[in-house]
Amino acid sequence: MIVVAIDGPAGSGKSTVADALATALGVPHVDSGAYYRAATLAVLRAEVDPTDVGAVTAVVGRVVIDRVDGRTLLDGEDVEDDIRGATVTANVSAVAAHPAVRDLLLVAQRSGIARDGGVVDGRDAATRIVPDADLKVWLDADVEERGRRRALQAGEPERLDHHIADLHRRDAADATQMVRADDAVVVNTTGLSLDHVVATVADLARTAAGGS
Ligand code: DC
Repeated sequence: MIVVAIDGPAGSGKSTVADALATALGVPHVDSGAYYRAATLAVLRAEVDPTDVGAVTAVVGRVVIDRVDGRTLLDGEDVEDDIRGATVTANVSAVAAHPAVRDLLLVAQRSGIARDGGVVDGRDAATRIVPDADLKVWLDADVEERGRRRALQAGEPERLDHHIADLHRRDAADATQMVRADDAVVVNTTGLSLDHVVATVADLARTAAGGS
């Protein structure tokens, strides 16, 4: 049984690293941000103002969000593609900022961890979702590098400035939720390849599992 928590800002590579590490360890990857994204889609579909805490909490309390085989289900409907779009991304920080929403989603996020463990990625995985994790990693990278990754992912290398500005906006919007655990190992991924980062974190995980 090994539980790993990986936190960090948008574009730091957490989700990709968590996915690769989970595969290497043979445990599930719990993408905690996906739950906030699905909740945001439900809020937008209900045409509710994302800053209206009462209305948002009522909508999120009514829906069932699941993750199955890397896909996100909202009331049984596969919404994995919809939740990665620009509209959800622009509104998710406002929905995730409500403590009542965070309380509602915590149980579902924890339920993604299997009996033999899991790799949870997010903003508060190490401090709130799995505070007893065997290994806590804080992934970071310069905002310019995070912007380059996002621009490439979006197929828009010419819009680098736009993606950097967007990351500055999301860092500010997520600041309250983004908590680095005191006992987290900081890994700065600037200039490092994905393979290198996964190998580094996998080494840390093996050491943590071995209890040394
Ligand atoms: O990791 P992501 O970009 O898919 O996360 C989407 C949003 O959800 C992010 O802007 C902040 C929020 N989030 C959070 O508040 N706490 C988490 N544990 C994970 C994500």
